[in-house]
Amino acid sequence: MDGNGRWATARGLNRLAGHRKGVEAARRVIEAAPTLGIRTLTLYAFSSDNWRRPMEEVAGILGLLQYYLERETDRCVENGIRVSVIGRRDRLPPEVTAAIVAAEQATSACTQLHVRIAVDYSSRDMILQAAQQCAGWSRDNFAIALGNSDHGGTPAPDVDLLLRTGGEKRLSDFLLWECAYAELYFTDRMWPDFCAEDLEAALQSFRARERRFGAVPAPLLPAISF
Ligand code: IPE
Ligand code: MG
Repeated sequence: MDGNGRWATARGLNRLAGHRKGVEAARRVIEAAPTLGIRTLTLYAFSSDNWRRPMEEVAGILGLLQYYLERETDRCVENGIRVSVIGRRDRLPPEVTAAIVAAEQATSACTQLHVRIAVDYSSRDMILQAAQQCAGWSRDNFAIALGNSDHGGTPAPDVDLLLRTGGEKRLSDFLLWECAYAELYFTDRMWPDFCAEDLEAALQSFRARERRFGAVPAPLLPAISF
């Protein structure tokens, strides 16, 4: 979800106005996702490096997160949207953590779409934390250790499509392990302007790709008719 700040600055607004607009884009994407066949959607809301931003911006972003978690949880339950948050919790204000826990608990049985929100998230830290627990473990066990920090015990899912808005072409410490075979898609669209059509365009590009996972192309199956 990149480009909120630049979107706002280009319009003479303060950066927080861009983050507010970014929430609307997140809602559009969450609403469109199930109809486009997406079952898991991970949104990068606040990275561990984002603590370097001015205090007011950090407080603004975390405040927006708390506000929308509290406000939208009932709607998520109605629409079958499970919400979980990945990343560290020990540095978040307690009221934000409380909103996270409440949203996770209320939506835990929802199965239509799993929305994972990365908050105080660093993929390197997640990998390091998992590595400290798991000498001799398999890749699958490692993924469970990575996923455990979403506090729901779900294994970290492999990413199929990594989509970055805002024109930057980098991963910025996001889901490094999970993106081992992710298809990458970059768009210049600023996140606040991102809409369902943009998501569809990304999925169209994704579907046109041949995913080989290190193997060779699958042989064409003979046509069988009865
Ligand atoms: C992404 O927008 C949202 C967060 C990281 C919270 P940015 O705030 O990174 O926007 P730009 O990159 O400065 O435009
Ligand atoms: Mg940015």
